[in-house]
Amino acid sequence: MATYDLPTKTGYFGKFGGKFVPEILIPALEELEEAYEAAWKDQDFLDEFKRLLKEYVGRPTELTYANRLTEHYGKARIYLKREDLCHTGAHKINNAIGQILLARRMGKERIIAETGAGQHGVATATACAKFGMKCIVYMGAEDMWRQKLNVDRMRLLGTEVRSVESGSKTLKDATNEAIRDWVTNVEDTFYIIGSVVGPHPYPKMVRNFHRVIGEETKYQLKEVEGKDPDYLLACVGGGSNAIGFFHPFIENESVRMYGLEAAGHGAETDKTAATLSIGSPGVLHGSLSYLLQSNEGQIHLAHSISAGLDYPGIGPEHSYLHDSKRVTYKAITDAQAMEGVKLLSELEGIIPALETAHAIAYLDELMPKTSEDEIVVINCSGRGDKDMGTIAEHL
Ligand SMILES: Cc1ncc(COP(=O)(O)O)c(C=O)c1O
Repeated sequence: MATYDLPTKTGYFGKFGGKFVPEILIPALEELEEAYEAAWKDQDFLDEFKRLLKEYVGRPTELTYANRLTEHYGKARIYLKREDLCHTGAHKINNAIGQILLARRMGKERIIAETGAGQHGVATATACAKFGMKCIVYMGAEDMWRQKLNVDRMRLLGTEVRSVESGSKTLKDATNEAIRDWVTNVEDTFYIIGSVVGPHPYPKMVRNFHRVIGEETKYQLKEVEGKDPDYLLACVGGGSNAIGFFHPFIENESVRMYGLEAAGHGAETDKTAATLSIGSPGVLHGSLSYLLQSNEGQIHLAHSISAGLDYPGIGPEHSYLHDSKRVTYKAITDAQAMEGVKLLSELEGIIPALETAHAIAYLDELMPKTSEDEIVVINCSGRGDKDMGTIAEHL
C-alpha cells in the first residue's frame, strides 16, 4: 500500500466517516478538532501523555511469547501483545487518558461517556478520579447486568452510572443517551467516546491515542525476532484496539491483518453483531460506516456474548480497510469465542476478555495455513475478570 494518510481534512476514509450530527454540535466538534490538532503537535502535551502511559497505565505492555499455544498448533510462532496488563485491565485506558488531557486543556470540567463492556467506563471513571473531574457514564441496563463488576468499580471511583432502558439496552442505546446529554450540555461538557466511532475527529483521535499498541509491538518484535510480524489478529467492536495495533504496520503489505468481529449465534442469524460480514453502509452515531440495518435503514439489534462487541456499527476506518481489502474481517460465533477463552486460559495461564477470545478463536482457521518460520501476534485487548459471570455460566 502506498503512503497511508487518512482521514482527509474533513474526516473521510474513502466514502466513510464524516460528521453527521445535529447543527448544535458542529461548533463543539470544530473546537475539539482544533484543540486536538494543536495538542498533537505540542511536545508538552505529548510528553505528559507519554509520562502518564508509563507511570500510570504501565506501558510499555509486554509482548509475551506463547510457547504452549505455539506447540499446540505446531506452525507459526505466536506472540501476545498484553493490553490486559494495562491499569484497569484493557486497552481502553490509553484513549481515556488522552481525551482527559484534552478536556483539561479545553477547560471542560464535566465528563460524559458511554460504555458497553464497562471497560471504557471504568477507564474514564479512573481518569476522572485521577484528575478530580465530574463523570457521568451511560450504560445499557442489559450491559449493567452482564458487567456488574465494572458498574461497581465505576461507582467506587466516584462516577455516576446512568442506566439506559431503551432499545436493546446495550451500547447503541447508551451512545444515543450520551449524545442527547452532549447536545443539552455542550457548553461545559466533554464527551469521551470509547472507540474509533462517532463524528470526525473522534475516529482519528481515538486511533492515534491507541497507536502506541502497534508502535510498541513493532519495536518489541524487532528486538526478539528482528522483523515485522506476518499476521496480526485483533477483535473488532467499534475497532479501537484493532486499529491502534494495525496502524503502524499498514504500509507494510507483507503484514496480513485480521479483524475478528462477533457473529453471535451465527452471521446468518438475527442474533449477530457481524457488521462487516453482513452489514451495509449507513449513518449511525455521527458517521457513515457499515451497519446492521434493514433495507429501510432501521438499525437491527446486535447480539454478542461479549458486551464490548455487541454494537450494530463499526469505526469508519475499518469500513474503508474492509472495502480496500487491506484488512480481512471474519466473524466468530459465541461458541467459538468460549473455546478461545478456554484455550488461552488452559495453555497460557491467561484468562482473556470475551472480546479478545474472538481473536484467539480465529487461530483454529489461520494456523494450519501458516509455516514455522512465520510470526503471529494477537492483541490481547483485555483480561477476563469482568466476564467471569458469563464465562462460568457457559462452561
Ligand atoms: C477488552 C475489550 N476488548 C475489546 C473491546 C472492543 O472495543 P474496540 O473494538 O473499540 O477495541 C472492548 C470494549 O469494551 C473491551 O472491553
